[in-house]
Amino acid sequence: LTPRQIRVVEVGPRDGLQNEAQFVPTQDKIAWINQLSRTGIPYIEITSFVHPKWIPALADAAEVAKGIERVPGVTYAALVPNVRGLERALEADVDEVAVFLSASETHNQRNINKSIADTFPILEETARAALAAGKTVRGYVSTVFGCPDEGRVSVDNVIRVTQRLLEMGVREISLGDTIGVAHPGQVHQVLDTLLNHVPAERLAMHFHDTYGMAIANTLIALEMGISTFDSSLGGLGGCPFAPGASGNMATEDLLYLLDGLDMTTGIHRDRLFASARLLEERTGLSLCSRGRNGN
Ligand code: HMG
Ligand code: MG
Repeated sequence: LTPRQIRVVEVGPRDGLQNEAQFVPTQDKIAWINQLSRTGIPYIEITSFVHPKWIPALADAAEVAKGIERVPGVTYAALVPNVRGLERALEADVDEVAVFLSASETHNQRNINKSIADTFPILEETARAALAAGKTVRGYVSTVFGCPDEGRVSVDNVIRVTQRLLEMGVREISLGDTIGVAHPGQVHQVLDTLLNHVPAERLAMHFHDTYGMAIANTLIALEMGISTFDSSLGGLGGCPFAPGASGNMATEDLLYLLDGLDMTTGIHRDRLFASARLLEERTGLSLCSRGRNGN
């Protein structure tokens, strides 16, 4: 593996908090994001402008987006499911929006209340409006490595959905292992096929860590040329509409791996741990920050 620049996308304030039973007060979210902004992380997904009835934990999306300090060089992004969400995100002036859908029909239906076919025009309209407003668009494909209802998902579905997103002008596609079932052999297999259709620079990996495979999966993806990885501080996270989903790959674990491989991220480890401590102290949430007490 050649040392290179790796982009870490911190999804904790969005994926991390969306599944928490406890509502984290807006001021605590803001304080946490402000501290995350000073860790050297280049990209933070700060919230999501979905329907607040569906994700009550992030009902304060606008207050959070408007309340944080914007550190130059950091991209502040938010999830949007449709034009209504985009309008709210634009009003709160996020830098980038992320649209999302699943590679499996059942999870798409559960998550956004529509078939995959009916979702495409909604995302198309949303991406077009975002680009017209001068924003860039990221895209998530969920259940790439397995669906809670359908099991294994065909790579053809993943290719089809990914290509549709790219045709919409989406900058980068994040491949979601929504329920954390991927293992290294499967990651190799899926990427081996997908990379015949999509260049590695347009892909990111979004591993949840149900079976503790996220770091092993990351290593395979690194070997195959992927340079962007989503993670969540302290391994928080999960999709409420995917039974069995657990936390994201922990940013602390990812950083330990990347530092060890001499990859550059720009992230300061001590500041990252301080940011985990701040969230714990303010909210009582318990984060799994492995290595925090080591050296
Ligand atoms: P729906 O009920 O089908 O929506 O929900 P609708 O379009 O029929 O509209 C119904 C009402 O909702 C309307 O209001 C809309 O204006 C309103 P009314 O006219 O009845 O007064 N509405 C909204 N209000 C505020 N913000 C909005 C919005 N949209 C509509 N954006 C919808 C469809 C997509 C909105 C809903 O299903 C939803 O919000 N789903 C979000 C689910 C979600 O957030 N899941 C977790 C994130 S995805 C994830 O975690 C996976 C990921 O991490 C990658 C991975 O791990 O794989 C990204
Ligand atoms: Mg996720």
